[in-house]
Amino acid sequence: MTTAPGRHEPRQHVSGLPSALTLTDVTLELGGRRILDKVSFTVEAGEFVGVLGPNGAGKTTLMRALLGLVPIRDGSARVLGAAVSRGNPAIGYMPQVRGTLATRRLSGRDFVQCAANGHRWGMPLRYRDTRREVDRALDIVGAMHLAQRPLAELSGGERQRLLLAQCLLGAPRLLLLDEPLISLDPNHQTGVVELVRRVQRELGITVLFSAHELNPLLNAIDRVLYLGNGSAALGTVDQVITAPTLSKLYGTPIDVMRVHGRIFVMSGGVEIEKQDHAHEDDDAHGTSHGHAHAHAHGHHPAHD
Ligand SMILES: Nc1ncnc2c1ncn2[C@@H]1O[C@H](COP(=O)(O)OP(=O)(O)OP(=O)(O)O)[C@@H](O)[C@H]1O
Ligand SMILES: [Mg+2]
Repeated sequence: MTTAPGRHEPRQHVSGLPSALTLTDVTLELGGRRILDKVSFTVEAGEFVGVLGPNGAGKTTLMRALLGLVPIRDGSARVLGAAVSRGNPAIGYMPQVRGTLATRRLSGRDFVQCAANGHRWGMPLRYRDTRREVDRALDIVGAMHLAQRPLAELSGGERQRLLLAQCLLGAPRLLLLDEPLISLDPNHQTGVVELVRRVQRELGITVLFSAHELNPLLNAIDRVLYLGNGSAALGTVDQVITAPTLSKLYGTPIDVMRVHGRIFVMSGGVEIEKQDHAHEDDDAHGTSHGHAHAHAHGHHPAHD
């Protein structure tokens, strides 16, 4: 088996720093259904972890549990050395359902500032402090030039930059980014991954980045967290993206093919990741309120 280039060993644990995430036998349930069943893993501070898994595997649910929005049914989870708590200012979160961004008439700056005035901080800041913090976030992601532009005019990649700026308000130590690549074309996908990687390294923060395709993340991630069938596997790409591990997580025989540094996860000759999420691009711009990731499987071809 050839190895794909550009992968990194997990960063050494910086002694004295608590792990970014420690899950011990965590069980999550929604509506009486078990989503994760006694899952244990540790993400060290300063790691960039790609979160993958089929539709409904629990990627979003896991992130919401770490935010205190989904109760932990059993087991324990610690975030940056502390118990899970709602409104944890140490976490920046980019939700998967992002609504009708494209139609907003806000400027780039106003859009980032919305988050500062909203749920990110418990206490409203003085205007000057807010402005300084918004400037700082815009600067980190290289979006100062977008501050005055109306959101509606921006490209998907540019909007993604502003969404990342929102997440960085208040200087979080952990970013939970839920499907930042949905609806972006491959060029923009690479740009977003590189941007997040640069910011993550510059700030020395931990990132969980969920995606429905591994390849755009391959050169950036330290490790991959793969969810499926209520279980999780965390390790390097070589450790996790194997036929035995993925067959267990998918509950069906899986082949892993490596071609020119890209990895294809196949089931019965069909590329499983793409097929699984093909419908999502349709409504990623969310025509209304509502869940862009409805779990009805449309069988139209992948758009990219
Ligand atoms: N409020 C809820 N009540 C009951 N079940 C729910 C609820 N929200 C989500 N689920 C179910 O929980 C499972 C996990 O959903 P989740 O959104 O975490 O998956 P995911 O891995 O993020 O999937 P996707 O790749 O489609 O985003 C799915 O089967 C989903 O239908
Ligand atoms: Mg999801």
